[in-house]
Amino acid sequence: MEHFYLSLLLLFVSFVTLSLFLVFYNHRSQYNFPNLPPGKPGLPYVGETLDFLSTGWQGRPEKFVFDRIAKFSSEVFKTNIVGKPAVVLAGAAGNKFLFSNENKLVVAWWPDSVNKIFPFTQNSSSVDESRRMRKLLPQFLKAEALHRYIGIMDSIAERHFASGWEKKQEVLVFPLAKNYTFWLACRLFVSVEDPSHIAKFAAPFNLVASGIFSVPLDLPGTPFRKAIRASNFIRAELLNIIRQRKVDLGTGKASVTQDILSHMLTISDEAGRFMTELDIADKILGLLIGGHDTASAACTFIVKFLSELPHVYDGVYKEQIEIAKSKRSGELLNWDDIQKMKYSWNVACEVMRLAPPLQGGFREAINDFIFNGFFIPKGWKVCIYEQLYWSANSTHKSGQYFSEPEKFDPSRFEGGGPAPYTFVPFGGGPRMCPGKEYARLEILVFMHHLVKRFRFEKLIPDEKIVVDPMPIPAKGLPVRLFPHKG
Ligand code: HEM
Repeated sequence: MEHFYLSLLLLFVSFVTLSLFLVFYNHRSQYNFPNLPPGKPGLPYVGETLDFLSTGWQGRPEKFVFDRIAKFSSEVFKTNIVGKPAVVLAGAAGNKFLFSNENKLVVAWWPDSVNKIFPFTQNSSSVDESRRMRKLLPQFLKAEALHRYIGIMDSIAERHFASGWEKKQEVLVFPLAKNYTFWLACRLFVSVEDPSHIAKFAAPFNLVASGIFSVPLDLPGTPFRKAIRASNFIRAELLNIIRQRKVDLGTGKASVTQDILSHMLTISDEAGRFMTELDIADKILGLLIGGHDTASAACTFIVKFLSELPHVYDGVYKEQIEIAKSKRSGELLNWDDIQKMKYSWNVACEVMRLAPPLQGGFREAINDFIFNGFFIPKGWKVCIYEQLYWSANSTHKSGQYFSEPEKFDPSRFEGGGPAPYTFVPFGGGPRMCPGKEYARLEILVFMHHLVKRFRFEKLIPDEKIVVDPMPIPAKGLPVRLFPHKG
């Protein structure tokens, strides 16, 4: 018996030794190319992921990048995050290089957690998926459609502010902003507008959003498992909506141009194939998540900055109240009104410069290439660190591109605005956010309703900011409301 246990022990030790050797060998070999950018791969497997995530949890994600730029005296450096060898390209030149080499040298890449939460989209490559999505969206996001949405956004904002803000002395801004953008997305993407139906969706959506960039550990209680379960629940709900819509389209109860769902159901590809119900459900799920969380982060930070900067608030108030006074009672906002909101949009842009909702994007090198004299091997992940949250980032917070980068100054966006590739909250190149104009409308409508009703004051003056993966005030931004008199 003793021999048996001894052999087992020896077998175990040999197995562990061999595994460790393979791990280290693999780990080292990934970095054995000539003339790689400077940088450290960090620990085996984990790499520098913990450092990368923890700087975000401390509200200073830019620290990860700036520490390394300073240490290696280079705006290009290698690291290992989310378990893969990666290279960070910082600065306007890095942005320009990546944005203009989309599908030539790089393609989009998503961490495993994203692919597992959206399994049906894995049947084709992310490039094909992106192309399909981009073909679908213009119909839904073209100027003429957007013009129609302004009135709908205005009336939903009216109901949202009446139920969530009015007659309250104090509110929590972040959940309210999410409720607003989610309500709009449900109404405009799938024509769901019953608040109780929307409320049923909201909680699982939050679970999916927080699991997307989590460690992909499918164990009880992990954010990842919760996200998978929540996405299955939403998918099932969406499938019900999709099936009902098919019936309604057939009987003429629903129209082809009604929303993006009708559009997806009625459009076919070059070969005449229609999208499957599951594919549509997954696309809508992705759009609902990507399209509402980002804008709600922007709205939240607009409230934060306006409460901190009374002179900026005054400028926005003046612009919005003039528009409000020019309207007849019950008349909805329209395209001309939006065009008059120039200062408000400059303010929103300055907010997104300092607090970009998305911290950047991943790409995968599909060919070997040289950047700034450094060799980047095919298969490496490329992180675009163009947009980093808060006090410093490679372009948004760099004195090289924005004078006094810490200062909140909406006039930066007057005239020609910032230099190309320096202000990139919506990304750039062929993958630039297709929802940019839609987002502009919903943010401006939100600002209109907010300032025409209230002044506000933060209840926690130094509330901590957490970036995980989007920036959020740690306590949800509680504010005291002061309704305007008369
Ligand atoms: C303030 C709000 C928003 C911000 C800051 C934002 C930002 C971004 C960024 C930076 C990207 C590019 C990511 C990359 O380069 O990998 C992106 C892509 C995308 N966004 Fe947005 N977005 C916002 C709102 C929206 C809205 C409202 C929608 C839908 C109506 C939307 C739909 C999309 C889609 C579908 C993509 C993927 C495009 C592709 O893969 O080619 N976004 N967004």
